Amino acid sequence: MYMRIIVAIDGPAGAGKSTIAKRVGEKFNLMYINTGSMYRAVTLKALEKDIHHSNMDKLCRLVDTMDMYFQNNELILNGENINDKLTLPYISNNVSNYASIKEVRHRLVAIQREMAEKYDVIMDGRDIGTVVLKDAPFKFFLTASPEERARRRYEELKLKKLDVNYENILDEIKKRDYIDCNRETDPLTKAEDAIEIDSTNMNIEEVVEKICSYIRNKINN
Ligand code: CDP
Repeated sequence: MYMRIIVAIDGPAGAGKSTIAKRVGEKFNLMYINTGSMYRAVTLKALEKDIHHSNMDKLCRLVDTMDMYFQNNELILNGENINDKLTLPYISNNVSNYASIKEVRHRLVAIQREMAEKYDVIMDGRDIGTVVLKDAPFKFFLTASPEERARRRYEELKLKKLDVNYENILDEIKKRDYIDCNRETDPLTKAEDAIEIDSTNMNIEEVVEKICSYIRNKINN
């Protein structure tokens, strides 16, 4: 029987979801959908236009003008590749507030589901296994200690030659974890049927191999 490969990966900031999802996606020829970058794009545009996260009407109208798709693992917004801006600290510090808005989530979740209807995808985020792709045959919940996650994010930003401070990053990650786990709409939780992987003491290859072997086993049985 042909089984569609649809993979959901959830977990907190800096757990390594995007690196892992790209590699696993390459192995099984899946389109990688980074849903965090969609929330980041909304944050970028809202901040550019000075729209506060409490201004629901303006925010909804803004999201309705945003055409989003993925090409080569990157988000294209209204025809433009804006990925360089999306991981800047001022976006990271604000994104959870915009991502808490129910109306924003409903709109982005609808777009994400459409993508998974058209293509075999590997999608990462906070609510993929619990909300967006509840029926996905493959679900993973990727975690690591806050200190290890902050260390990884610190190295990543340093490579981009940004002026970064470890304590600030750890603080930002903890704040974002708190908002993401405690918001009313679709908070970050592990789906009951997701496989949890704590990557604190694992390298990228080990996590990729673990996920790939689960997928291979299920396809072959
Ligand atoms: O890369 P990192 O783990 O730091 O974050 P991300 O995956 O880019 O997501 C950025 C933020 O978007 C998260 O902290 C959440 O507030 C929000 N988000 C969400 O609410 N739901 C998703 N499916 C994905 C991201």
